[in-house]
Amino acid sequence: MRFWSPTSAVALLGTLSSLFRGVDADLKGVFAHYLVGSMGGSDEAVKDVQDAKKMSIDAFALNVQDVSSSWATNAIQLLFDAAAANDFKLFFSFDMSVLDQPSTFLPLFKQYQGNSAYYRHEGRPFLSTFDGGSKSFGASSPNAGWQSQLKDALAADGINPFFVPDFDDYGGATYDANFFNNYPVVDGVMSWESAWPEVSEGLVNVSSAKDQTALVNAHAAGKVYMMPLSSVQFKHIDPGQNWYRRGELNLPLRIGQVLALQPDFVEIITWNDAGESHYIGNCWPEAIAGAPAIQAYSNGYDHMHWQDVLAPFIVAYKNGATSLAQVTPFGAFAGAFWYRPLLKSASCSGDGLGKPSGWENAEDLINIAMLLPATSSGVTLRVYSGGSVVATLPTNPGLNMATVPIKTGPQRVELVAADGTIMGAGSSTQDVVADTSGVCNFNYQVVHIA
Ligand SMILES: *[C@@H]1O[C@H](CO)[C@@H](O)[C@H](O)[C@H]1NC(C)=O
Repeated sequence: MRFWSPTSAVALLGTLSSLFRGVDADLKGVFAHYLVGSMGGSDEAVKDVQDAKKMSIDAFALNVQDVSSSWATNAIQLLFDAAAANDFKLFFSFDMSVLDQPSTFLPLFKQYQGNSAYYRHEGRPFLSTFDGGSKSFGASSPNAGWQSQLKDALAADGINPFFVPDFDDYGGATYDANFFNNYPVVDGVMSWESAWPEVSEGLVNVSSAKDQTALVNAHAAGKVYMMPLSSVQFKHIDPGQNWYRRGELNLPLRIGQVLALQPDFVEIITWNDAGESHYIGNCWPEAIAGAPAIQAYSNGYDHMHWQDVLAPFIVAYKNGATSLAQVTPFGAFAGAFWYRPLLKSASCSGDGLGKPSGWENAEDLINIAMLLPATSSGVTLRVYSGGSVVATLPTNPGLNMATVPIKTGPQRVELVAADGTIMGAGSSTQDVVADTSGVCNFNYQVVHIA
């Protein structure tokens, strides 16, 4: 089934099977990791679901760290109600860096796995995790622990989850053949860490080598691979959580890697994780009300316009695109630019946490992603930094990515047609500064080019 190409027969089967509850979802599902947090009301859940559906995301992977507090169970119920009302799907990604063992989350999983809004694959409820690959729960091995506490326990109730955990923490460098020999309990794997370069790798672009190893070995074992796609990871909470993982062009570079590798599933990291700065949706105030450190570097740093870059990619990926040239906008163009409003050389003398580890790996750049139709020709990007034109860049049809060194002051990018007409533009609302007495903020401002 996995290797079939879309044909009218498959489309017909899809139509027929959708007549039944628990329809099989196709491969090439695209999900967004969603941190379940305190919610102000159903309007927030509905907005998130509708925004995600509009950009062709299939489901939220609900990161659950608390299975019983009312703020968590209320939010989960609001999200399932919103998903059911909007023909959207959800599945759980239980956070095993916080939860002690599968038996803790089984009641919650059993409660929702049969919900009409629960995401299914091959008729089975999809289930993921963050971590948990090195925990045995008192059994002889992690595999034995997961087998008995998850799969065997659920089999007793006639439930057979399609289990695609993030087991990055299992102890090996990559998901190699050995991993799949030792973990027959999984139906596939997700990576989290391969979404960005490690701090220790230095000033390098993200690599897809680990994803490729995982994909090849997963398929050899008859399993699936879920590839992570993310923009940046900046965390600035306390001395133990203060780092910067690139960043810069990571998002379009990963899009190109996904298209080249063709994984079975893609998980966008994340929809709403303000603490790690890689959100692409709203970060509702109730969820971070108790976290002033996070508010200080995410409030006023809107990332919604990364959605304009991602939505055409998702459609292209599902339609079989294998290269950036095939990622074209829905209209005449679509794009955004993003930048850090603080130069990396900043002393950050007024911030008790100081600079994040990995700050040396940052680059002071205007980062641009611009999508143009297949017929586009002669279009240029005119880039202003610090108030004057610093670059005029050629473009090609498809998804263009470009960087220009940034200067302090305001930033602006114009899209200029061959005849000199300005087709669209975006201007910064926050100037770049060389230093600050406030928060040492390496988060991005994302500016729509419209
Ligand atoms: C990262 O990739 C971009 C786009 O190909 C390229 O311009 C840039 O030089 C690369 N940066 C590094 C550090 O390799």
